[in-house]
Amino acid sequence: MKYILIAILLLTVVTARLHLTETQEKRLNELDPNPNHQWYTQRVDHHNPQLKETFQQRYFDNDKYWDSETGPLFLYICGEAICREPADNSFVVNLAKKFNGRVLALEHRFYGMSHPRPDWSTENLQFLTPDQALADLAQFASDKSREFSAEHGIPFRRWITVGGSYPGALSAWFRAKYPHIAFASLSSSGIVNTITDYDEYDGQVYASSLKSGEECTDKWRSIFSSFEDKINSGLASDVYEFFGYFGNDLTVGDFFNFLADISAGSVQYGKRSKFCDGLINTEFKEQDLLNWTLEYSKEEGLDLNEYTVPYFANTTIDYIKAGRQWSYQICAHIGFFQTPAKSVPSMRSQTIAIDYWRDLCQGIFGIDLFPDTDHWNKLFGGKEITGSKIIFTNGGEDPWQHSSIMESENPTFHPIVIDCDNCAHCVDLHGDFPDDAPELTAARDQIKGIFQDWISEELNLERIYPSEVKVGLREFLS
Ligand SMILES: *[C@@H]1O[C@H](CO)[C@@H](O)[C@H](O)[C@H]1NC(C)=O
Ligand SMILES: *[C@@H]1O[C@H](CO)[C@@H](O)[C@H](O)[C@H]1NC(C)=O
Repeated sequence: MKYILIAILLLTVVTARLHLTETQEKRLNELDPNPNHQWYTQRVDHHNPQLKETFQQRYFDNDKYWDSETGPLFLYICGEAICREPADNSFVVNLAKKFNGRVLALEHRFYGMSHPRPDWSTENLQFLTPDQALADLAQFASDKSREFSAEHGIPFRRWITVGGSYPGALSAWFRAKYPHIAFASLSSSGIVNTITDYDEYDGQVYASSLKSGEECTDKWRSIFSSFEDKINSGLASDVYEFFGYFGNDLTVGDFFNFLADISAGSVQYGKRSKFCDGLINTEFKEQDLLNWTLEYSKEEGLDLNEYTVPYFANTTIDYIKAGRQWSYQICAHIGFFQTPAKSVPSMRSQTIAIDYWRDLCQGIFGIDLFPDTDHWNKLFGGKEITGSKIIFTNGGEDPWQHSSIMESENPTFHPIVIDCDNCAHCVDLHGDFPDDAPELTAARDQIKGIFQDWISEELNLERIYPSEVKVGLREFLS
């Protein structure tokens, strides 16, 4: 992914509706040529009635396929990055087409253009928590349902939530926590089981890469060994300069964090074959492999300059940057530090074991910040999440699957593992394409079939208990 650097102060967004200067408008157009967005007034803090501050939260509303009488409402949960309007060929919009539904997508607080405070200081980031994000969704979805009910003379309609990755976890958590607002959810690659030392991630990068053969894993392991040897023999700055970094802030760990992202990102985003074929087609000679690594990292848009503490410590709001906010989320709440695999050969250097991440969190935020993921799992159940009517999908090659629900005794949970070549993170949420694996198409059909039943049940209950007051009964009876 290429990052276009945009620096825009959002003071105006925080206090009032968005008033863009000409320059800001131009930059936004570069970023999103057809911004069809709207704004919702949201509380900064859902837990403290003494704090009356609000901010403007951005959302998209697609009612093109909606039949107000019978059509479900899909709440597409954004997170980890700027929210983009779900494309016409995306899974959530394809669901809307099939069921005559309406899709609303809410931008996650502190990402994109939705900022509770005028900068990303560590103090301001205290309002960046998964439970505040869930409460944002609850406020927004309730208000929208009331609005649609009044506008169209229809019952208070509950939602189907849809999200992938961390928003996939939010999707499941939302259904469990707010069943009076959502009656079903799709949690794609939903990382509901929060883990601090997440070495299974690297273990899966290894296992998935092995599908291309040992030549792939052997060559990759030889590459980070070569860099380790060079750095250990005093050539660190040569190595960093080779990748275009000329500053003084990069640590050895930061370098290997960057290097690990090259293989990890490929496997995570369904490009395992591309990555492994690249390695396999390169001669097993040190300099050839190192040169290949440089070229490949450029092709994948990875930039070593974006791995230093000062880079993440920057508190200036930028629409398209997400590194600082995401770092805060992992350092303060959900962990998932990608450490070297302990039970299989690792695909990353031992320099990025858990201590590296602890130091990184402290360095970025300037305070002793490290997550208590057990606390979070107690609040939301982790792998023992309860509730009903949740579909958990996972790509068979996805390193995140070990933090999701792959099997369940709960009769109304549907774990679906999509096992095909290069089927990885959130693969089901993409649009339909002619070269989709049959397993992927089958999974999407399965999801549609399950939703079909749940939507019919909900419509029946909606006819019997149309008012918002009786909506709890719908949950009880469904
Ligand atoms: C901090 O981030 C802003 C927004 O991206 C950027 O314009 C600025 O140059 C950065 N500051 C430093 C010191 O890198
Ligand atoms: C690696 O890249 C460098 C710099 O572009 C080049 O001088 C060198 O010949 C390359 N080596 C190999 C073995 O491809």
